[in-house]
Amino acid sequence: MQTTAGEIRFQELIDADEKVEPRDWMPDGYRKTLIRQIAQHAHSEVIGMQPEANWITRAPTLQRKMTLIAKVQDEAGHGLYLYSAAETLGISRDEMQQLLHDGKQKYSSIFNYPTLSWADMGTIGWLVDGAAIVNQIALQRTSYGPYARAMVKICKEESFHARQGYSILLALSRGTEEQRAMLQDSIDRWWWPALMMFGPHDSDSANTPQSIEWKIKRVTNDELRQLYIDQTVPQAHYLGCTVPDPDLRFDVDTGHWSIGLIDWDEFWDTVKGNGRLNRERITHKVKAWDDGAWVREAATAYAHKQRTELEKTA
Ligand code: 3HC
Repeated sequence: MQTTAGEIRFQELIDADEKVEPRDWMPDGYRKTLIRQIAQHAHSEVIGMQPEANWITRAPTLQRKMTLIAKVQDEAGHGLYLYSAAETLGISRDEMQQLLHDGKQKYSSIFNYPTLSWADMGTIGWLVDGAAIVNQIALQRTSYGPYARAMVKICKEESFHARQGYSILLALSRGTEEQRAMLQDSIDRWWWPALMMFGPHDSDSANTPQSIEWKIKRVTNDELRQLYIDQTVPQAHYLGCTVPDPDLRFDVDTGHWSIGLIDWDEFWDTVKGNGRLNRERITHKVKAWDDGAWVREAATAYAHKQRTELEKTA
């Protein structure tokens, strides 16, 4: 089969580490992979607002409440940048919502766990946003221009989130015995789910080889997970805490922390919709979408009115 000019140009862009833009020809699989990943990423940002919003009314001080509100609001903004990036690939925001609501597109496994204590607000900021940052720093170099550019702003805000989380945990670590116990309990519950965020081991990751070839992913799941473990374990120790892994060892030969076995049954159960809170999260999301219909209609009608008036004066 003859190679087209579009195919040649696409490969040149990839080889030269330049960005593919919406106007460029791209293979169907490249477009589909990006829609899948960016939509999943956007949905994660939006669904991820639920576990933290749950604690806004119970924040212990006005300062903590303001910071938490700002963080949750940032996540909505991240969702919007990402939906916009996905739209440049030829899918509409409404379609993506429908696919999520019907269980045909995913969101991160991590958001199917409950937030049981105030310490969880700190642990989510530190461990969950911390994991997101490790992944997203690599994604700043992804080959699709709109996705890479969205990542730059998102990463800046995520690093504020990680710091606000760690600041909550530092305060607890210097608090009473009860507060320190709350902190340790929170790390115990979130550690393994945070490691699962990076996805299955490379040997079981169906999408990684092609995504690496297209430079959509720049680093594999296991490489990112290791980077994260190496930077996070000392931070846990600095808090005076441990991570719940009896097999955790520092390997002096490799210079890396090695961990025990991840419970992949729990991971796949959650990914397939049978995690602790999958049903609640989607039910809440669908309700919010339905309740917000009048806002979308009003905004569309207003935009239409503005356009009509502009056309009259043109
Ligand atoms: N949760 C749910 N599903 C997951 C998952 C997770 N943590 N990890 C992997 N999967 C799914 C994949 O989507 C894939 O299923 P599919 O083919 O039906 O879509 C399957 O498991 C096999 O995994 P692969 O490794 O083959 O999939 P990918 O190559 O897509 O790699 C990924 C998975 C590393 C998560 C990649 O998609 C990625 O980097 N995504 C962008 C980052 C992202 O989505 N982050 C969400 C984190 S939360 C967040 O950012 C919010 C912040 O505020 C904290």
